[in-house]
Parts: sequence; C-alpha cells; structure tokens
Amino acid sequence: MRVAVYPGSFDPVTNGHIDIIEKSSRLFDRIIIAVVHNVTKKALFTLDERVAFIRESTQHLENIEVDCFSGLLANYLREKKACAIVRGLRSMTDFEYEMHMAMMNKRLIPEVDTIFIMANAEHVFVSSSGVKEAALLGGDVSSLVPPQVKIGLEQKYKQLRG
Ligand code: COA
Repeated sequence: MRVAVYPGSFDPVTNGHIDIIEKSSRLFDRIIIAVVHNVTKKALFTLDERVAFIRESTQHLENIEVDCFSGLLANYLREKKACAIVRGLRSMTDFEYEMHMAMMNKRLIPEVDTIFIMANAEHVFVSSSGVKEAALLGGDVSSLVPPQVKIGLEQKYKQLRG
C-alpha cells in the first residue's frame, strides 16, 4: 500500500488545501493529513479544531486519514511507513521554501520523496493567514474555505471580540 503524508499547520484548512488533498488522494492508496503541533507558531484554532475541520471537509474522500504529529516529520514518516510527502505549490516563492525543506527531509529520510502538486489557478493566492485576516475584517471568505471553516472563523472572532 502506497501511503503519503500531507503535513502542515492547516490553521485553518482552505479550499486550496482541499484541492491538493483531492488530487493526491487519486495518486496514492492512502493519504495521511498530518496536522503539526508547533509550539513556536501561535495558532488561531486548537489542534482538535483544525483536525475536525479537515475531517468534515474530506468526508467525500475514502482514502484519507487525519492525524496530528509533533517533533521531526522524518520520524513520523517512518512510524507511518510512508513513501512520500505531499506538498502544494502555488508560486515561485513557495518553491524556494519547499525545495529547502524537501532537501532537508531527503537527507533525514532518504527513502521518502517529496511530491509537489500544483494548486489550481483559482487557489494560487489563497493562504490561511490571508483568509484569517479577511475574516477578521469582515470580508466574505465563503469561496475560499469549506463551509464549516467559515462558521468556525465567525465564531472564533466573535469569542475573541468578547
Ligand atoms: N492552498 C492554500 N494555502 C496553502 C497551500 C495551498 N495549496 N499550500 C501552502 N499553503 C499555505 C498555508 O496556508 C500556510 O499559510 P500561512 O503561512 O498563511 O498560514 C503556508 O502556506 C505554509 O503553511 P503549511 O503548508 O501549513 O506549512 P508550514 O510551513 O506551516 O509547516 C511543515 C510545514 C509542518 C511541513 C514543517 O514545518 C515540518 O515538517 N515541521 C516538523 C519539524 C521538522 O521535521 N522540521 C524539519 C523539516 S525540514
């Protein structure tokens, strides 16, 4: 069975991520979406909230597992017996960052390759932080994120405003 891991912060998952998940699910037997627990990056949503959003938004796909990890990605890949890391590419700026990360991971776990999937043109400008900023300032993000994430963003900002 060919297992690939799609790691990321997913704070929150966007339609751009879903596009990458759908494409990669057609290429591998199983995709593990691995939400990173990064203590140095302040997240808007908790790990559980981020996982729940992804689970709800990928119900139409059969070969998806959603999980969390902390520490070194290479160790997690070994534990899951993965053959590939999936990453989405939106622009040349992504490429520079992704290339270094792919090379580092190749050094840490040579048997695993990073597979880059091009984002669809309508998603090249979508980022989690862009979506959060637009939602905070009252912008309509319904075409950028799954419906449950839109509701989650509204509730989170309502809570934070008190
Ligand atoms: N659609 C929409 N947005 C996308 C996207 C797509 N297709 N592809 C990337 N992005 C955005 C994300 O939303 C995020 O936006 P933001 O910065 O506005 O929040 C940004 O691109 C990058 O985030 P993400 O893809 O989640 O990656 P990351 O840089 O937060 O995390 C890990 C990358 C988790 C893979 C990496 O940090 C890791 O492996 N950590 C474990 C520790 C380790 O092993 N380190 C050594 C590895 S070299």
